[in-house]
Amino acid sequence: MIHLAVMGNPIAHSRSPLLHQYFAKSAGIDVHYEKQLVALGEIESSITAFFQNGGKGCNITLPFKQDVYTFLNPKLTDRALLSGSVNTVFIQDNALYGDNTDGVGLVNDIKRQLGKTGLSGQRILIIGAGGATRGVIPSLLDEGITHLHIANRTVSKAASLIDYFSQHLEKWASKPTLSFSAINDAPPCDIIINASSSSLSQEALPLNPEVLQKASFAYDMLYTREGRTAFLDQCSCPKSDGLGMLIYQGLEAFSIWTGLHPSIHYAELEQLLRMDG
Ligand code: ATR
Repeated sequence: MIHLAVMGNPIAHSRSPLLHQYFAKSAGIDVHYEKQLVALGEIESSITAFFQNGGKGCNITLPFKQDVYTFLNPKLTDRALLSGSVNTVFIQDNALYGDNTDGVGLVNDIKRQLGKTGLSGQRILIIGAGGATRGVIPSLLDEGITHLHIANRTVSKAASLIDYFSQHLEKWASKPTLSFSAINDAPPCDIIINASSSSLSQEALPLNPEVLQKASFAYDMLYTREGRTAFLDQCSCPKSDGLGMLIYQGLEAFSIWTGLHPSIHYAELEQLLRMDG
């Protein structure tokens, strides 16, 4: 029996146990995956205790992703280091390491929908400049995108993120160009990704109509039971909420912990998760 967990606060709503039980069944192994409600200030001790008691891996969710990054630094994968947050903890050579699988989750879901070359050569507009945006940028750059524009309500935060990634651009052979602006000044791009929390408050984004018209694909990292968000309602191109990102970030974490790559029947898993919502 492999012991896994997700730690956060709140945690009751988490669908990760359902997801990982599906992966375990598909891989033919026994997994116990628990939800742990962790009090603020107790994430380090909770992680330490979990692994001391035989835990094999855990996911970290709000509000602890940045705390765990600080706690585990420098025992971080490259993508966790660049993204500034950790959503997956694993053991290697008796030490705890942090990874971030959110970006791969996003990229794999976009590829599922656009085909394998989904992001290569594309110009990406990402809305928001918080932890969610920073968390996925390394994986977007890994895909060979040609341009990344960050648009944010508070322009200075978009500027800081662009400044940060421009200092690390030597890691990417494709040398994408980077830019930033306020949301209403964002330029037309091929793919728009909403990584802001605007859809949580069901607020539409003040994007120029031309930007919405010229996009060929729109993605909201939020997921909802019915798959609709305020941002997606603004878009008339092919579009998707973030349920698949949840699925694929989990699949990547499961593979890190178990070394297995279970096959999934996407439509079946989607139905299971949306019903549970
Ligand atoms: P996370 O770690 O989930 O990214 P965050 O750091 O609080 O959370 O960032 C939330 C992002 O959503 C921010 O970029 C925020 O814009 P500001 O930087 O101007 O605060 C953005 N955001 C939140 N509500 C928004 C709204 N109604 N419209 C547009 N952007 C919004």
